[in-house]
Amino acid sequence: MKLRVENLTAYDIFIKRGLKKQINSYIKEFIKGQNILIITDSNVSSLYLKELKQLFESDDYYKDLNVLEYIITAGEQSKNINNYNDILEFLAENNFSRKDIIIAFGGGVVGDLAGFVSSSYVRGISYIQIPTTLLSQVDSSVGGKTAINLKSGKNLAGAFYNPVLVLIDPDFLDTLSDRVYLDGFCEVIKYAYIKDYILYEKIKNLKSKKDIDSSIEEIIYRCCDIKRKVVLKDHKEAGIRKILNFGHSFGHAIEKYYDYKKFSHGEAVGLGMLMAIDFNNYLNELSETKDIYDSLFDILDKLGCKTNLYEIDYNGLYEILLKDKKISKNTIDFIFVDIIGKAYIKEIKLKDIKEYLNSK
Ligand SMILES: NC(=O)c1ccc[n+]([C@@H]2O[C@H](COP(=O)([O-])OP(=O)(O)OC[C@H]3O[C@@H](n4cnc5c(N)ncnc54)[C@H](O)[C@@H]3O)[C@@H](O)[C@H]2O)c1
Repeated sequence: MKLRVENLTAYDIFIKRGLKKQINSYIKEFIKGQNILIITDSNVSSLYLKELKQLFESDDYYKDLNVLEYIITAGEQSKNINNYNDILEFLAENNFSRKDIIIAFGGGVVGDLAGFVSSSYVRGISYIQIPTTLLSQVDSSVGGKTAINLKSGKNLAGAFYNPVLVLIDPDFLDTLSDRVYLDGFCEVIKYAYIKDYILYEKIKNLKSKKDIDSSIEEIIYRCCDIKRKVVLKDHKEAGIRKILNFGHSFGHAIEKYYDYKKFSHGEAVGLGMLMAIDFNNYLNELSETKDIYDSLFDILDKLGCKTNLYEIDYNGLYEILLKDKKISKNTIDFIFVDIIGKAYIKEIKLKDIKEYLNSK
């Protein structure tokens, strides 16, 4: 399967089982210089780096090229300014030029960090995304958002910078833990609710990773296609791209309130989507959102994702929401879904959010 993204720059996304055995062939046309840097993390490198390097070693095309690797410690804490700086220095020490190429080989952490490095090294060097988690395959590898975290907050430094190619092999997902896998699947559920009723029909009865696996290529394709269409209309998130944040305002607040320990990102987004539907119901007393709430609860519950909203300290979330970088003039653009597959943006006053949280 293949998709083409055309915004500031155009690039292809290939989605195919077994594609990881042909990475050397897919990337050839993007190699213009002498050097390739594979940026990866400690988990992905121990599982897959040898295999990837063997592909280059066994292909004559690469015999005079310099293939280097840079391995960061796995985990969100690695998306930091020290690693960013060290990789830039590593590129300079190894005489990388704008003709050379970077491969981001890993989950969203590697993709965001390697993408930001690429956006700024010699004012921009090409990079290829080879995402290895479900979240990165359906979300972070597409759309050109790159970032690192600062002490003051997540993703506070970054750039919009597109890859030149995205290679997605669902076979990488076989080695993911169930928790990391389901984390990504919460983003799949999000796409269904904001834009794709057919995807919703497909996923509503899935009960396990095994069920998901049988249609994973099509699921990834549908998600990337939605993201592709949305970013095409609004690359820099001035409008419609915000619908991709469904569940994320409450979700980010939940993650942060519990210090990123109690809930993973996907778990928090799942809970955040439930809260967003409930909030909509609170504001408008819509009877149909009750059905949407139940349908989402059911999907999350069947798959074993968290639904334990009763454990959330609603009042505590408000203080965190006040620091949301998306707030302006005491309002925040909230994403609501009244009909599955049709999300919309609505400006909400902070006082309404406060009243809702207090009502719980
Ligand atoms: N740029 C964007 O548009 C965008 C969108 C959403 C999220 N993000 C960012 O993505 C990051 C989260 O991404 P993530 O969930 O992929 O996290 P991650 O990169 O930390 O990966 C999760 C874990 O899975 C491991 N892993 C990766 N691939 C594996 C594989 N095939 N087999 C076994 N283990 C594997 C990693 O080592 C890590 O321990 C966050 O930093 C978030 O801010 C960015």
